Amino acid sequence: MIFKEKQIILKDGRKCLLRSPKPDEAKEMMDYLRTCATETNFILRYPEECTETVEEEERFLKSIFESEYNLMIVAIVDGEIAGNCQLNIHKRMKVRHRGDVAIGIIKKYWNNGLGTAMFQELIDIAKEKACLQLELEFIEGNERAVALYEKMGFRVFGERKRGVILKDGTPLSEFFMVKYLD
Ligand SMILES: CC(C)(COP(=O)(O)OP(=O)(O)OC[C@H]1O[C@@H](n2cnc3c(N)ncnc32)[C@H](O)[C@@H]1OP(=O)(O)O)[C@@H](O)C(=O)NCCC(=O)NCCS
Repeated sequence: MIFKEKQIILKDGRKCLLRSPKPDEAKEMMDYLRTCATETNFILRYPEECTETVEEEERFLKSIFESEYNLMIVAIVDGEIAGNCQLNIHKRMKVRHRGDVAIGIIKKYWNNGLGTAMFQELIDIAKEKACLQLELEFIEGNERAVALYEKMGFRVFGERKRGVILKDGTPLSEFFMVKYLD
């Protein structure tokens, strides 16, 4: 899916452009992903696991662009990728009413309203696509994400104990949230 670009204003007054990523931004996307993975333990990858080549990432971005079911939005502030979010709607008939959502923002842009703005776009598009529910998972302790998700109408439906084990051996639960759209 292609996202029709849109400008928003962040809480600090800065302009932010929301748009689809371009396949020729593959290197910038990988650098951005590595930065996110360095700054937080709350995404599933460690930075050294961001191993896609530029060509692989380019193919991935192109596939999203051409997909009827998947959407990615990037947030551009002062010319750099500040964050991204994704909506993946299931394809098979029995589960076509469900969409998975995910989001990441680099640290200097946290608490600036960007997560809220991007999530609102995903919710609006999911509704347009006749999606009936959005689903996501978060890692224990991610209070900022929980605050955002609850504000956007998601509720916790389950816990996977020891869903994650950090390098230092710390076990953490993963929680499953759903927002019903009908
Ligand atoms: C989680 C994340 C997407 C939130 O995005 P964001 O742009 O910072 O979110 P927003 O500024 O729109 O909203 C955050 C809300 O949490 C609140 N908040 C911030 N820190 C908080 C904390 N420690 N406890 C509770 N609430 C908190 C803010 O006040 C704000 O609420 P408000 O809009 O009602 O004032 C972002 O911080 C991020 O990418 N983190 C790292 C990666 C990550 O965790 N991804 C999600 C994986 S599940």
